[in-house]
Amino acid sequence: MITIVGAGRIGSSVASSLITRGLDDILLVDIIEGLPQGEALDLGHMAASYGIDVSLRGTNDFKDIEGSDIVVVTAGLPRRPGMTRLDLLQKNTRIINDISFKIAEYAPKSIVLMVTNPLDMMTYVALKVTGFQTQRVFGMGGMLDSARFRYFISEALGASRSSIQALVIGEHGESMLPLPKHSTVSGKPLTELMSSEDINAVIEKTRKTAADVIALKGGTVYAPGSAVGEMIESIMKDKKEVMPLSAYLNGEYGVKDLCIGVPAVLGREGIKSIKELQLEEDEETVFMKGVETLKKAVSETNLD
Ligand code: NAI
Repeated sequence: MITIVGAGRIGSSVASSLITRGLDDILLVDIIEGLPQGEALDLGHMAASYGIDVSLRGTNDFKDIEGSDIVVVTAGLPRRPGMTRLDLLQKNTRIINDISFKIAEYAPKSIVLMVTNPLDMMTYVALKVTGFQTQRVFGMGGMLDSARFRYFISEALGASRSSIQALVIGEHGESMLPLPKHSTVSGKPLTELMSSEDINAVIEKTRKTAADVIALKGGTVYAPGSAVGEMIESIMKDKKEVMPLSAYLNGEYGVKDLCIGVPAVLGREGIKSIKELQLEEDEETVFMKGVETLKKAVSETNLD
């Protein structure tokens, strides 16, 4: 069973992505009465229109998450125009704290995939509160940032998106780190295809674009849902794909006791291994800036 906690914009978009990928047995949970049930009905009708046989339910009762293989957490406040992801820290920490206790109680064997912002911090909170092994608690941020990087690379080069592999690691926030040397078009690194000025322009667009979407239409919906769907597919089908995700580091990249975006192999048991990339000096600086931001956020968060 795949449980989605939070049946708002992102939660329902995740469910839609799972349905179109043929992933079955989906449960939507929310505190708003009627909302998860209504979303389940509407999405069930969508599945019927595609002729896809999937089971989809909505509930307000956390006990129903019992037996979940994966719990995706999208519950909490989203950014409003002008806010950074970290502005959500205190309020969403309380929500994720509460939900994590319930996951530990009712779905102690599940894999937890965090989506709520500020993503790296919420992943850290969920990990500490559930007490689950580190390979079973991680977050979606880098997959979405990488899709956005891919979008702007395609726009700049006029290349097909299917020929582009793009990679963004680091904090899912102001210090995200797009990696042009590890991003390719038909196998060629971006650094061989574009000038450093053009690459920097693409990187800036990637960093800024979520805020633009929020300013234009109030929030992001489809791209996050699709990115989560891709990760869940890799888990459920044990694909062992390398994906950027927010993982707990215990010495990797010279960082300890923090969750941040890194490439990792993702399969049925969760994170199989973390890939350590050789970063250039300027890349290392951006990565460590994200680390410092997150360390400060941890110190400001009461996790006891
Ligand atoms: P939304 O407001 O549409 O939905 C949030 C839902 O969570 C609401 O339906 C609310 O009732 C529910 N909720 C609140 N407390 C709950 C609880 N204790 N238990 C169960 N449900 C609860 O917000 P939206 O747009 O879906 O965003 C959700 C979160 O995802 C935000 O924190 C947003 O910043 C984050 N996000 C993360 C992305 C990422 O790349 N990691 C991308 C986009 C959004």
